[in-house]
Amino acid sequence: MTTTPQLKNIDACVFDAYGTLFDFNSAASAARDELGEDWQRLSDLWRLKQLQYTWLRGLAQHHADFRQVTGDALDFALASLKIERPGLRDRLMDLYLRLTTYPEVPAMLRELKGRGMKLAILSNGTPPMLAAVVRNSGLEDVFDAVLSVEEVGVYKPHPSVYRLAAERLQIAPARICFLSSNGWDAYSAKAFGFRVIWCNRFGQAAERIPDTPDGEIADLSVLPAMVSQ
Ligand code: LAC
Repeated sequence: MTTTPQLKNIDACVFDAYGTLFDFNSAASAARDELGEDWQRLSDLWRLKQLQYTWLRGLAQHHADFRQVTGDALDFALASLKIERPGLRDRLMDLYLRLTTYPEVPAMLRELKGRGMKLAILSNGTPPMLAAVVRNSGLEDVFDAVLSVEEVGVYKPHPSVYRLAAERLQIAPARICFLSSNGWDAYSAKAFGFRVIWCNRFGQAAERIPDTPDGEIADLSVLPAMVSQ
């Protein structure tokens, strides 16, 4: 399903990072010479476990930053698939700092920025991880803020994470359009009070959690035609 409502009275677009702007599959894909046909299974398991660990650490109140969680999840995925190659873990962790952007992302961001829209990232990533991936993509000049959950010490979807964006941008949640490819993130951001477009890149089924996003698109290329101030 794709729904493309017009969202008016929007002062800022706030983006999730991994899977929304930056392609987390591009790390394992770039190491296909070592991973062979296992690369996609490794990538899927790595991502799945990475997210599970964020939620588990939140519930258990054992916060560790996203660099550690990402490394722990990679160790789990490599062990599960019985992949043992010297140097591969470090190589994949380094590639995570240089993930590629999805193809439509740079032009879409520059079009919105040219219209005076405030732009921000709100991500589980640590400040150094986010700075590296933004710098590597040549997008340093585009964002008004790159916000990390490390400022609040708990992962999405805790409401304090979404509140951080509204507070730092000094913009009411109802005037912020939040974009995520992660259904659980999109639904939870809507429950917090943002206007939300779910960028459902992976054709996932609707979530069964509060609340329902305002719209759903397959990639971000149509976003500039949907939001206005
Ligand atoms: C992020 C993850 C959830 O960037 O994709 O926060």
